[in-house]
Parts: sequence; C-alpha cells; structure tokens
Amino acid sequence: MKEIIAIEGGHKLSGTVEISGAKNATVALIPAVVLADGPVNIYGVPNISDVDALKVLLEELNCTVFRDGDTIKIDPSNLQNVPLVSPAVDKLRASYYLMGSLLGKCKEVRMRMPGGCYLGPRPIDLHIKGFEALGAKVSYEDDCIVIKAEKLVGTKIYLDFASVGATINIILAAVKATGKTVIENVAKEPEIIDVCNLLTKMGANIRGAGTDTITIEGVEKLQGCNHEIIPDRIEAGTFLIIAAAAGERVVVQNVIPQHLESLISKLKEMGVVMEIIGDSIIVNGASEMVSCDVRTQVYPGFATDLQQPLTTLMTQAKGVSSVTENIYPERFGHCEQLANMGAHIEVFDGACKVYGPTKLTGTRVYATDLRCGAALIVAALISEGVSEIANVYHIDRGYENIDNKLIALGARISRRIVEN
Ligand code: EPU
Repeated sequence: MKEIIAIEGGHKLSGTVEISGAKNATVALIPAVVLADGPVNIYGVPNISDVDALKVLLEELNCTVFRDGDTIKIDPSNLQNVPLVSPAVDKLRASYYLMGSLLGKCKEVRMRMPGGCYLGPRPIDLHIKGFEALGAKVSYEDDCIVIKAEKLVGTKIYLDFASVGATINIILAAVKATGKTVIENVAKEPEIIDVCNLLTKMGANIRGAGTDTITIEGVEKLQGCNHEIIPDRIEAGTFLIIAAAAGERVVVQNVIPQHLESLISKLKEMGVVMEIIGDSIIVNGASEMVSCDVRTQVYPGFATDLQQPLTTLMTQAKGVSSVTENIYPERFGHCEQLANMGAHIEVFDGACKVYGPTKLTGTRVYATDLRCGAALIVAALISEGVSEIANVYHIDRGYENIDNKLIALGARISRRIVEN
C-alpha cells in the first residue's frame, strides 16, 4: 500500500497563492534554539514533516515544544543532552544542525548520521573540520558520530566550498566559543542570514552574514527571543514555474523578490511575462516559451533546488535547453520520470539537455527526492490525462499544504492509497 497524488492535467490555473516560511531556514532555526537558556517563539513555521521530525528530536532532548498553527514555542531550559539515535534523525538532513548547537551548548554530542534526500554523495567533512578547528575531537562509535570538546576556542576557518550546512553548523558551534571565530568563504544563502538574525536576537555577536566572511565573538549566554521566518524562496520559485507552465494569471504572494533574481531572469529569458509588486510576483503566462541554459551555483547563482522543476518547464520551451549541475552532479532523478511522461531529455555527467516543446502524458511516476516531486507536479499539471505521483513523503517533507494551494488555483488533485 502506498500513497499517491493524482493530478488531472490540462486545467489552467489562476488566483493567488501565499508562500509559507522557508523550509531550509526553519530546519536550522529549530536546532539553533537549543543554544538559548529561555523560551524562543518562532513564527511562520511551515507545516511539513521535517518540522515534525525535529519536534521529536527536541522532545527527546527534554525541550518543551508547543505548536499552534504556524507558531512554534520551544523551551530548552531543561535540556538533557541524550544521544540522538531514534529514526527521527534519519528523516531529514538538517538533524545535523543539532551537532553544531549541542556541541556549542554542551561541548558534546552523540548522534546517528543524518538522512535526507539522496542527491549523490553528501559528505559532511567541512562541518567536521570546522568543529575540529574549534577544538573538538570527532570519533565514530556504534553507528554514531561523537563530537566532544573540553573547550571551544575561536579560530580562523576557511571553507574549501561555500557549503550551506557547514556554514550554519560552524556558526552554531562557535557562538558560545571563547574568543573570535572568523569563517571565510562561507555560503551567502538567505537562510543563513535568517539563522544569524535569530542568534543575534538570542544575544550572539555575529557580523558579516550574507558576505563571504562571517566573524563571531563568542558570548557566554544566549537568551530566549521571538523570530519570524523568511518566506520560502524555493517554494515561491516552484509556484512561479507552475504559474509559467500552467497559469493564466497567478499571484505569488509573500515573496522576497531579491531572493529569486536568478530564476526571475531565466523565466524572463524564456518568455514568461511577470510583474513584481511589493512582496508579490504576478505571472501572466507566456505565449511561446524559448529554450534557455542554466548553471546551478551557490547563492546568488541559480539554486540547485529549482533546477528540477525548471527542467519540466524546459520541456515546453522551443529549442534545446540545458542544465549544468555544479552543486549535486547526480541530481537528475527527475529526468527519467519526465521521460516516462514523454519528455525528450538526455542526461550526461552533471548535466542534461532538454529538447522542446514536447507533449507530456499522465502516467505513474516516482518522486526520487523532494524537488523531483516538485518537477513531477509541474509536469502533471500540464500533462494530458491523469498522472499518479508516488513517494509522496518526499514532497510532504518540504511543501506545506501543496494540494490545497494548487486546488485553490484551480488544479484537480486528490490523494489516494493504492496497492502498488
Ligand atoms: N559538501 C561537501 N562537504 C561538506 C558539505 C558539503 O563536499 O562538508 C558538498 C556537498 O556534497 C554538495 C555541496 O557541497 O555537493 C553543497 O552542499 P551544501 O552543504 O551547501 O548543502 P546542504 O547544506 O547539504 C542545503 C539544503 C539543500 C540545498 C543545498 C544547496 C538544507 C537542509 N538543505 O543542503 O536543500 O540543495 O543546501 O543549496 O538546507 C532541498 O531543499 O531540496 C535541498 C536538498
């Protein structure tokens, strides 16, 4: 028995969609809270399964977690630093932020290795090097990573690659370290700035978030605070692509347009007509789309998380489009699924070519990861007939209430349990 999302394609979408709080900020903000000595309220928390898994982990750590709508109140005052070995660790990648925050607070952490989408190898060597540079010793025992430090002391750390996860994890470990930590060649994603803003409200002393170098002066104590999460630029981007593919006039609301500049410029290049008004982007469709070439890069370059849904749009554009994946060279699981729906795509080492336009036809397809799921939703909305998307749990990890948001725009979607 498995759950599928069934989508009847071909219905034009119109109306307004409200973007939720950013998943990739949320999953770092929640672990960051354990560093505080008092309660933290976070507003705009998306209702996604990654948040459910983090709630379980924080409760295992004896934090009080209370959710009310899109607000989460976390009180880590009675934290108990137990080993994190439950299945919740494997449910998401971001459980690894508890390495940085527990190390920062308790100088010790023992946990299983994190899970998350398979996008090819996803090492955490840069996180580990950062912890070691701060004075921690890292070992592996019984399927667990054990990170311990007698004392964390600020130092200079240069990241070989501007990794989102390593940047955040090292910040979490360094905010209570003794003295000054300078991290160079850090990632500049908006989610990192959001985490630094939360930590600053908690009393941390951080400068340079959003630039190549972050400087942290360690503080002894961090307190509770209130924080509102930034809007999810990847969910917003996904809806812009959906609107370009299947929309007549769609208003994507609660967006920070600057976070989406690389996508907006690509969509314009393809012929999509858009208008930005305040925190909304209005997509008025495209008469005839033309091909484009995309190279994924760290922010503010084109986001790897959006190349998969954009690939679907490329199937509708005239000419040969290409995607070069510089972050996860194996992130092409969606291409085979799209090909099963009629797309003409060639996959190479770290790249693909998309020949368009092609007619897509509904069939059973499988989300191989979260953003593949998004790519398949875009495809199903413009396919002839009914598509059945399996492995729905990937989609539910990162898109809040996606069915109802699409239904409100006029899509025909239902969920079903099927035997195989
Ligand atoms: N890398 C290393 N060593 C490390 C860390 C990273 O070699 O220690 C490599 C990775 O293998 C990868 C590249 O560096 O090739 C980028 O990894 P990064 O650390 O930047 O990514 P991440 O922190 O694991 C986050 C998001 C991903 C998003 C990437 C890139 C979270 C929880 N995940 O992952 O989001 O694709 O940054 O922007 O924030 C998604 O939302 O679907 C998703 C996968």
